[in-house]
Amino acid sequence: MGKLFEKFPDPLARLIVVVAALFALGAFAYFVLIPKPVKDVEMQWADAIKREKARPVKYAGFHVCEECHGEIQKKKQTGYHKDLSCETCHGPAKAHTENPDKVKPAIPTARTFCPQCHAFNPSRPRGFPQINPVAHNPLKPCSSCHNPHDPKPPTTPKECSACHGEIARMKAVSHHVQLECTVCHVAPQQHKVSPRSVKPSKPQVREFCGKCHGKDAKEKLAANAPKIDMGEHGEKYVCWQCHYPHSPEVEQ
Ligand code: HEC
Ligand code: HEC
Ligand code: HEC
Ligand code: HEC
Ligand code: HEC
Ligand code: HEC
Ligand code: HEC
Ligand code: HEC
Repeated sequence: MGKLFEKFPDPLARLIVVVAALFALGAFAYFVLIPKPVKDVEMQWADAIKREKARPVKYAGFHVCEECHGEIQKKKQTGYHKDLSCETCHGPAKAHTENPDKVKPAIPTARTFCPQCHAFNPSRPRGFPQINPVAHNPLKPCSSCHNPHDPKPPTTPKECSACHGEIARMKAVSHHVQLECTVCHVAPQQHKVSPRSVKPSKPQVREFCGKCHGKDAKEKLAANAPKIDMGEHGEKYVCWQCHYPHSPEVEQ
């Protein structure tokens, strides 16, 4: 090695030799030592496709079921569950479509099933129908009252609390306990049948709360209401920016 370097006294030439040697070594490693499947992306793609294709297909998809279960599909199409595919509830059913008499899909009859989507959970979108599975008609299976393929509530509820349980429970232990919901909301009867298309009103201006809380309020329930100076209190902001109207507790 020393002799080899003696042939190249110039440091620059030495550097070139070292670099060239490393380069040759690298090329040898890349082209000879590393096997082709590790380097060739297309080979890897082809392998992955082969591997995925070999897996058994479990789900039959949205449309196959109606070939034999047209009635159920027709019922589901117009109901609240129109956007759920059959296999969301019945599980993978490809094998069933190929051999319907021998292989039966699961039928989710347990009371724990529906609450996966319908149990109260504050992270669900506002207005999504939610119930408390412990308090909501306990012990009976859900499908004894709601047809899972067209889950209308069996009766139109009378109380706001049937659907707004959280708010009603909160108000019941607040200073606004004596105020009916309809003191502050004008709710058309139709809201209880199609709640998403017919909505009640909500208070819009701070003077609304002033009807009871203003210095010279005359409203029926105003007598017990603590009074504030409407001109100064809370400046120009609407009251519910600071007080949740269903539980307007003031921390002392
Ligand atoms: C080729 C026709 C066919 C297709 C396609 C088909 N089914 Fe069925 N399905 C049947 C038959 C036949 C029965 C038995 C009916 C009976 O027992 O009265 C059945 C029964 C069922 C049952 C009841 C099982 C039980 O234990 O009673 C469910 C649930 C079901 N099918 C779901 C599905 C779903 C979900 C799909 C779509 C992924 C589907 N089926 C596609 C023919 C079909
Ligand atoms: C929200 C969940 C859910 C969806 C979505 C759903 N099912 Fe069902 N299905 C059930 C439940 C729960 C039962 C059992 C009903 C009972 O106990 O009476 C059932 C029962 C059935 C039965 C047994 C016979 C009957 O009519 O009760 C068949 C067949 C069936 N479903 C097919 C389908 C098909 C086809 C689809 C799609 C068009 C579908 N289901 C969508 C939950 C669902
Ligand atoms: C995968 C989630 C999912 C499952 C599981 C599910 N649902 Fe639903 N459910 C929905 C969706 C989505 C709606 C429609 C909500 C809307 O219209 O905004 C709905 C609507 C409803 C409604 C209508 C409520 C109203 O506003 O009047 C009832 C009742 C209902 N489901 C009962 C059931 C029952 C009973 C089961 C079990 C057999 C069940 N759901 C299983 C997602 C689900
Ligand atoms: C004894 C009959 C009965 C049973 C069992 C039952 N429900 Fe209900 N459900 C009702 C009635 C009645 C309503 C209408 C509201 C009210 O009066 O409580 C309703 C309303 C609902 C709503 C609509 C709430 C809203 O905010 O729009 C959902 C969701 C619901 N039920 C899901 C379920 C689920 C899930 C189960 C099973 C864990 C179940 N129900 C069991 C009778 C029943
Ligand atoms: C059948 C169930 C049901 C009943 C009964 C019901 N509501 Fe509702 N309500 C809903 C649903 C679902 C929404 C959510 C609509 C949305 O956000 O898309 C809603 C929304 C509202 C809103 C908000 C409207 C908005 O623009 O944000 C108010 C206020 C309201 N309800 C008040 C009431 C009052 C007061 C009662 C009793 C007189 C009542 N509701 C009875 C289901 C119901
Ligand atoms: C003191 C007046 C008052 C009473 C009583 C009242 N609300 Fe409200 N409610 C409001 C105001 C104000 C808003 C608007 C809040 C906002 O925009 O942030 C509201 C908003 C709502 C909303 C929209 C969602 C939310 O939480 O902001 C619903 C649903 C609702 N109220 C239902 C009810 C029900 C059900 C009752 C009876 C149990 C009730 N309210 C009683 C004043 C009231
Ligand atoms: C119909 C009359 C009435 C209306 C309208 C009304 N309130 Fe009240 N409010 C009362 C009464 C009565 C009390 C006191 C109840 C008690 O403590 O005995 C009260 C108490 C309060 C308290 C005091 C809570 C505490 O900790 O002392 C606040 C804050 C409040 N309301 C805010 C509001 C807001 C915000 C609005 C408008 C969305 C509103 N109120 C609309 C009657 C009303
Ligand atoms: C910027 C926030 C804010 C706004 C907006 C606001 N408040 Fe208050 N409010 C408070 C605070 C903080 C307290 C407790 C300290 C105090 O008494 O000033 C309070 C206290 C109250 C009390 C209890 C007074 C007492 O003597 O017990 C009432 C009633 C009240 N507010 C009603 C309203 C009404 C009605 C509006 C709308 C016209 C409103 N607030 C707007 C922050 C606000």
